[in-house]
Amino acid sequence: MSGEVVKEMENLDIENHTEETEDIVDPWNVVSKSEKGIDYEKLIKKFGSSKIDAELIQRFEKVINKKVHHFLRRGIVFSHRDLHHILNQCESGKPFYLYTGRGPSSSSMHLGHLVPFMFCKWLQDTFNVPLVIQLTDDEKCFWRDIQMEDAQKMAYDNAKDIIAIGFDVNKTFIFSDLNYMGQCPEFYQNVIRIQRCVTFNQVKGIFGFDDSTAIGKIAFPAIQASPALSTSFPEIFGVKKFPCLIPCAIDQDPYFRMTRDVTPRIGYQKPALLHSRFLPALQGAQTKMSSSEENSTIFLTDPAKKLKNKINKHAFSGGQATVEEHREKGGNCDVDISFQYLTFFLEDDERLEQIRKDYSSGALLTGELKKILIDTITPIITKHQEARAKVTDELLKQYMTPRKLSFNF
Ligand code: TYM
Ligand code: TRP
Repeated sequence: MSGEVVKEMENLDIENHTEETEDIVDPWNVVSKSEKGIDYEKLIKKFGSSKIDAELIQRFEKVINKKVHHFLRRGIVFSHRDLHHILNQCESGKPFYLYTGRGPSSSSMHLGHLVPFMFCKWLQDTFNVPLVIQLTDDEKCFWRDIQMEDAQKMAYDNAKDIIAIGFDVNKTFIFSDLNYMGQCPEFYQNVIRIQRCVTFNQVKGIFGFDDSTAIGKIAFPAIQASPALSTSFPEIFGVKKFPCLIPCAIDQDPYFRMTRDVTPRIGYQKPALLHSRFLPALQGAQTKMSSSEENSTIFLTDPAKKLKNKINKHAFSGGQATVEEHREKGGNCDVDISFQYLTFFLEDDERLEQIRKDYSSGALLTGELKKILIDTITPIITKHQEARAKVTDELLKQYMTPRKLSFNF
């Protein structure tokens, strides 16, 4: 136990030692030098997390008595911390809860954001557990030049997108920091407990802050850490302490390395984590899909025609320059964005494998591959837009009201 704590503490300042040739992955930047994208194996070593291997997947399937989600089968959810603790908990019939979040920086979410949230929905359905979703509208006021009212409005807009993914209203609490922090003393008290334990020097190391960083930024990580303590939600959990599992993409790990360093010191278990890869930008796997680049991003609000045009025009191709050359040499699935996206969103394992073979051999052309992608993603987006249109302000309010959920703890 104490050995583990020491290991976490050693890991805290890794961000400062990034060399120029290495991939950059932190909450604000995701950049790789390689066409194939981030080297996720290297990231596991650098961050000190654990790889999700065949053995862990086998154990997972034994515990849930069904096949795991294709994100796990395909290594899209590829790394974890302490997942065994959560599986032990399930095996002995004891409860835990899920925590995830979103920093509302645009009024529409994008296809990449669906990854952790779709996975969260599968986890909630599989384990029948409470889920809390933090909307860090405060964070966006510190990091972007936006008005508080606008940040809060985007939080509500994003909450509608999140609701449209299908979370059970009786098992899910969505909150905006700007609102909930003033509503719930227990939450703020946990923020203080965490802030007492972390020095400026530590957050400098983890997040790269310096002497001219606004103090709001310096104090913010404690706010993203607090939902990992069940007592931050007294309506749901009362005063009892429950284990927490956090699904997120790996860019959020710095927050939770800090969280895991602090929790044992204030009498809580470290939260467990499940890390996903990034859905790459349309232009190529060197960067992640992000809201700030219109042409590299598929927004959940894009109409079908725009979606089709974006994929045809901007999706980086691993195909050859001419049809003749492509037939002869075949395409490169490792760098082809359309193929990469299919690994996220085409559920049929056999069909995906056939596409991989056909594209690699040259039997399948880039235009044909793009058409398969368009036919796969369009119904997902259209269905999402229909579901979102049905989310009324009344329903939104229900999800965002602090209340008891349908669990008796
Ligand atoms: P945000 O809004 O940047 O992202 C929300 C979630 O989506 C993940 N993500 C992606 N996943 C796959 N492909 C991409 N291209 C991609 N871009 C973003 C993020 O890792 C995240 O899981 N500070 C957080 C909000 C937050 C949070 C949390 C997230 C607060 N508490 C706990 C996860 C867990 C943020 O701004 O996320
Ligand atoms: N800090 C995240 C960002 O700006 C947003 C966030 C808050 C989050 N809580 C979370 C992401 C929990 C994942 C899980 O990117």
